[in-house]
Amino acid sequence: MTYAVIMAGGSGTRFWPKSTQSLPKQFLNLFGDQTMIQDTVSRLEGAIGPESVVVVTNDDYTSIVEEQLPEVNEKFIIGEPVARNTAPCVAAAAAILHNEDPDSVMVVLPADHVIGKPTGFRRVLDLAVETARSENSLVTIGIKPNRPETGYGYIRFDADRVNGPDNEDVYSVKNFTEKPDKETAEQFLSSGDYLWNSGMFIWKTSAILEAIKEYLPEIFILTEELMMSDCSKEDLDEFYTACPSISIDYGIMEKAEKVHVVPGDFEWNDVGSWTAVHELSPKDENGNAAGGALTSIQDSVNNLIHTQSNKLIALVGVENLAVVETDNAILVVNLKEAQGVKKVVEDLRNNP
Ligand code: GDD
Ligand code: MG
Repeated sequence: MTYAVIMAGGSGTRFWPKSTQSLPKQFLNLFGDQTMIQDTVSRLEGAIGPESVVVVTNDDYTSIVEEQLPEVNEKFIIGEPVARNTAPCVAAAAAILHNEDPDSVMVVLPADHVIGKPTGFRRVLDLAVETARSENSLVTIGIKPNRPETGYGYIRFDADRVNGPDNEDVYSVKNFTEKPDKETAEQFLSSGDYLWNSGMFIWKTSAILEAIKEYLPEIFILTEELMMSDCSKEDLDEFYTACPSISIDYGIMEKAEKVHVVPGDFEWNDVGSWTAVHELSPKDENGNAAGGALTSIQDSVNNLIHTQSNKLIALVGVENLAVVETDNAILVVNLKEAQGVKKVVEDLRNNP
């Protein structure tokens, strides 16, 4: 059986005032009617049904997940008492799924990405699942890089193709570098030998358990204990409290030897800031994206308006701004400096 494991424990700060500590990015509807985690589940339709979806999130967010994904089995909504990054999240899901079906395949997905062309995504996903089964390897989905981004992992692939089941593209991974510095990212980009790591991983549950045993032995001992338990809330709490905090990228992917990558030929965006929301939203002929908001826009170009109220928003002679309105706050930010929004969050945290 193939299960999806959705990692949804992140607590973003870059989408303030829409995202907050109590409602991070994965639970927002930044595009269209559905939230990002709802889109993540819908995108799997026909391949992995909601009965085979596991969501791992923070205890603070389990009720939001239940509300947003009522079709997901409650026993598969896992709450973490403490955030320990993605390696413990994957290990806990592996323990639970191993007890359900030791031959299972896990499709590990971030909860907060935008993916275009669902059919392209599905083809790549099917190929990745087949590869994980036939090669017994750790499989990632790679994206062709277009800038020296330092916030992503980079996959150096072997140009010799490992034939996929229908001679489709599957490559061996030579090495994996998580979040390089700028200079290294520039070298990687110009070499043409690298893909971005999309953060989506596909493997047999038994294969990732083997890898955890080899590269994260401390977490493996706790995972074995969890596997031998009933995986009750108390057992999970004990597991997480004892686990060190480490990401799957640093903990396993950088070290693992048998890794394959399937290049993704679909649009993919990690949606890191309001700038990305502007890029991905439909715009008028002047580059203004206003969703369905009530607006009057005069002599203004390349702006983003995001509001849920019925207030009229008027712009005159401005460019590259995001105007975001919620019940509690209004943000006006230069779209070229949208990463700076996290400074507001820090400021509010320090001076509540
Ligand atoms: N359950 C749980 N618990 N989920 C978590 C935790 C945690 O402690 N921490 C993060 N997550 C979830 C986030 O909600 C997100 O969906 C996913 O795991 C990845 O975490 P991020 O914190 O967003 O990772 P990143 O973006 O810095 O880096 C990863 O993704 C990049 C692509 O977006 C890496 O895999 C990079 O290599 C990759 O390029
Ligand atoms: Mg991310």
